[in-house]
Amino acid sequence: MRTMSCSGRAGQVIFCLVILKLYCQLTVSQLCPKDESYALLQLKDGFEYDESASLDCSPPYPRMASWKSRTDCCSWDGVACHGVTGHVIALDLSCSGLRGNLSSNSCLFHLSHLRRLNLAFNYFNRSSIPPEFGMFSSLTHLNLSSTWFSGQVPTEISHLSKLISLDLSLNEPLILEAPAMKMIVQNLTQPRIMWIARHLPVSNWSSSLEQLNLGSTSFSGGLPDIIGNLDSIKVLDLANCAFYGSVPASLGNLQQLNQLDLSYNNWTGQIPDVFGNLSKLNSLSLQNGNFSGMLPSSVFNLTELLRLDLSQNQLEGTLPDYICGLDNVTYLDLSYNLLSGTIPSCLFGLPSVVRFKFNNNHLTGELGDHWSKSLLEIRLESNKINGRIPPSISGLVNLTNFDVSSNNLSGIVDLNLFSNMKNLWGLDLSHNSLSVVTNNIRNSTWPQFYKLALSSCNIIEFPDFLKIQNQLNFLSLSHNRIHGEIPKWLSAKGMQSLQYLDLSHNFLTIVNELPPSLQYLDLTSNLLQQPFPILPQSMYILLIANNKLTGEIPPWICNITTFQIINLSNNSLSSNIPQCLGNFSTELSVLNLRSNSFHGTIPGSFTEGNKVRSLDLNGNELEGSLPLSLANCKMLEVLDLGNNYINDSFPLWLQTLPKLQVLVLRSNRLHGSIGNPTVISPFSSLRIIDLSHESL
Ligand SMILES: *[C@@H]1O[C@H](CO)[C@@H](O)[C@H](O)[C@H]1NC(C)=O
Ligand SMILES: *[C@@H]1O[C@H](CO)[C@@H](O)[C@H](O)[C@H]1NC(C)=O
Ligand SMILES: *[C@@H]1O[C@H](CO)[C@@H](O)[C@H](O)[C@H]1NC(C)=O
Ligand SMILES: *[C@@H]1O[C@H](CO)[C@@H](O)[C@H](O)[C@H]1NC(C)=O
Ligand SMILES: *[C@@H]1O[C@H](CO)[C@@H](O)[C@H](O)[C@H]1NC(C)=O
Ligand SMILES: *[C@@H]1O[C@H](CO)[C@@H](O)[C@H](O)[C@H]1NC(C)=O
Ligand SMILES: *[C@@H]1O[C@H](CO)[C@@H](O)[C@H](O)[C@H]1NC(C)=O
Ligand SMILES: *[C@@H]1O[C@H](CO)[C@@H](O)[C@H](O)[C@H]1NC(C)=O
Ligand SMILES: *[C@@H]1O[C@H](CO)[C@@H](O)[C@H](O)[C@H]1NC(C)=O
Ligand SMILES: *[C@@H]1O[C@H](CO)[C@@H](O)[C@H](O)[C@H]1NC(C)=O
Ligand SMILES: *[C@@H]1O[C@H](CO)[C@@H](O)[C@H](O)[C@H]1NC(C)=O
Ligand SMILES: *[C@@H]1O[C@H](CO)[C@@H](O)[C@H](O)[C@H]1NC(C)=O
Repeated sequence: MRTMSCSGRAGQVIFCLVILKLYCQLTVSQLCPKDESYALLQLKDGFEYDESASLDCSPPYPRMASWKSRTDCCSWDGVACHGVTGHVIALDLSCSGLRGNLSSNSCLFHLSHLRRLNLAFNYFNRSSIPPEFGMFSSLTHLNLSSTWFSGQVPTEISHLSKLISLDLSLNEPLILEAPAMKMIVQNLTQPRIMWIARHLPVSNWSSSLEQLNLGSTSFSGGLPDIIGNLDSIKVLDLANCAFYGSVPASLGNLQQLNQLDLSYNNWTGQIPDVFGNLSKLNSLSLQNGNFSGMLPSSVFNLTELLRLDLSQNQLEGTLPDYICGLDNVTYLDLSYNLLSGTIPSCLFGLPSVVRFKFNNNHLTGELGDHWSKSLLEIRLESNKINGRIPPSISGLVNLTNFDVSSNNLSGIVDLNLFSNMKNLWGLDLSHNSLSVVTNNIRNSTWPQFYKLALSSCNIIEFPDFLKIQNQLNFLSLSHNRIHGEIPKWLSAKGMQSLQYLDLSHNFLTIVNELPPSLQYLDLTSNLLQQPFPILPQSMYILLIANNKLTGEIPPWICNITTFQIINLSNNSLSSNIPQCLGNFSTELSVLNLRSNSFHGTIPGSFTEGNKVRSLDLNGNELEGSLPLSLANCKMLEVLDLGNNYINDSFPLWLQTLPKLQVLVLRSNRLHGSIGNPTVISPFSSLRIIDLSHESL
């Protein structure tokens, strides 16, 4: 027999005997153990209910109101029990309008099996957080956000070794001093830990803390200067914490730092020069931090760096030669910035570099001739690099990804350069001035690509080696000079996983079968002169504009309910537009059937909630009236129905479309008067309206 004593209504201590466990098990109908049921009722008794205690909730909701003795506590609002043992394992009393002290002898602490406890948005009268919280040894989630506790956060919180989420936010009077902070940070090591504190509840941080990991914690404030007091810190992870403002210069004091991660925040201004002072850094991650200004060249003096990521900022400036002193760096990512100037050719030969990403900048210069043997990934796309692709690249037999697309490279490239790279899964040479030779392909060790893009490479036939590919996902051969039929093997066994196929801007005449998993197909600007091709069910983007397709759009197209974009403009399609095109896909956003020979009426099946942004049926032979269901297209930005035979009055009822910017109805048979708007801001986004050649 166990004895329990805990406090119900504050001050008045109640003793009770707990019924034998055995007895509990005999009364099978009662799921919830009696002692826990009793503790909950005592807890309820301990508080006043007062809406104003949960002011920030809309509306406050007294979950405890449903708690009645002699009922199964597992069915009470906010209470959840273990399916087998019946123990109370979760308690959610957030926004319950509780007002009063929560003291050490509260019955709450008898619920020793709790895994989740949420007391957020109640008023605990500025009492201190009882150290007994440390006794919930199974607790994974503790939420004390906006609870009006005050004083020190007890070090006992650090006993909660299973904690995944701790929310102490919105508690101005709470103090988390260095000793408690240290224990908490060191003991709460679960990988997903969140420390949500919108205002850092820290009064005085000091030395001896070696690791502070607040990644993915939402602070939404500035990083206080006091951070510079953590002068023993080695690992500081403040990624994705919604910090804003500038990075405090006091970080320069943290001479012991090995790892600094400030990525995914919304910092203002430059990357501070003080980082150049942190000579022990081996990992510096500042990606997507909203940094601007000049590239802080001082960081390239950090010769111990193994990992440097400055990507996705707005950094300007040129790369200094001494960047090549980063002897140990394995990961070097400066992509998606505004860097300009010549790329130092020594950079390609950094002795340890494995992943090298300078893509999406404005860099000039040529590719080096001396490549580091350790390279696995080279990303240089979208720059202004010129010159040739050096033959020495073929020595990188372990390369996995090589992307130099959208530069100014020139010359002839024999694809055999890459044939020995058996792990190469990505190759993109598109949009340069290269002439890629794809015949005479050696057979033996040819890589199996996942992504292959050879757009605008002066290719005149489908490369033969495609026949021996069997895991291709992405293939682009657009803007080449390939003539004739799309070969049948393109839908054969080896192409089962192809999802993206771009063959636009060639001279293709016939498309037969298509790969079965295709999602994206671009055949724009070819010479296809045939009926509508049969499409796989998985399609979501179909672009076949500027061809000579004939016949009708087959009605089965509406069975492909994943379509987002369909562009069939400038073909010779005729017959009726399938009526189902208005409502077959909830994702459809663009339907362009411009300049064909469709007749019949405009599909009238647009249902509410559709996502159509652009509907272009200009230049057909459509007749009849305008379907009223167009008013359901609330996302519509462009509606072009010009050059048809539509016979109706002006569709004033389109005035309610909030996003409509372009409305073209010219050269139809509209009549009557335009009428007076009946809503307050009719056509509120309209910028272009073309009603010429109408008798309105
Ligand atoms: C609540 O706690 C405070 C200070 O801890 C104490 O002064 C007060 O008497 C308590 N209130 C009640 C109703 O016991
Ligand atoms: C809140 O605390 C004050 C003193 O700090 C005390 O006088 C008051 O009784 C407490 N209120 C409740 C509801 O416990
Ligand atoms: C804590 O509870 C409040 C109120 O229910 C909620 O808004 C907040 O997101 C919770 N915090 C966490 C970390 O889940
Ligand atoms: C850390 O957690 C362990 C159990 O996981 C516990 O024994 C120890 O007391 C805790 N240390 C601190 C400082 O809380
Ligand atoms: C921080 O702690 C140090 C020594 O531990 C003390 O001298 C200083 O006054 C404290 N600062 C604050 C703001 O509490
Ligand atoms: C760099 O570190 C030295 C101490 O090693 C310190 O005196 C100096 O102020 C620091 N500079 C900056 C800019 O933080
Ligand atoms: C970043 O901060 C600026 C103000 O400094 C604000 O305008 C902007 O919306 C913020 N961006 C994000 C993504 O929070
Ligand atoms: C970096 O090193 C170069 C060459 O050693 C030196 O000229 C430059 O002043 C250093 N920059 C910083 C910010 O330490
Ligand atoms: C960096 O490389 C040098 C040799 O080039 C080596 O002595 C040093 O230990 C390396 N540093 C790290 C952190 O790996
Ligand atoms: C390629 O990788 C293999 C195995 O990982 C390794 O033995 C070989 O030295 C590497 N080749 C080069 C040129 O680095
Ligand atoms: C590859 O080798 C096979 C025989 O192993 C041969 O039939 C085929 O034509 C070769 N393909 C190419 C592209 O050389
Ligand atoms: C389209 O779907 C309908 C009804 O689900 C079915 O009867 C028809 O056979 C399908 N057509 C094709 C071509 O898949």
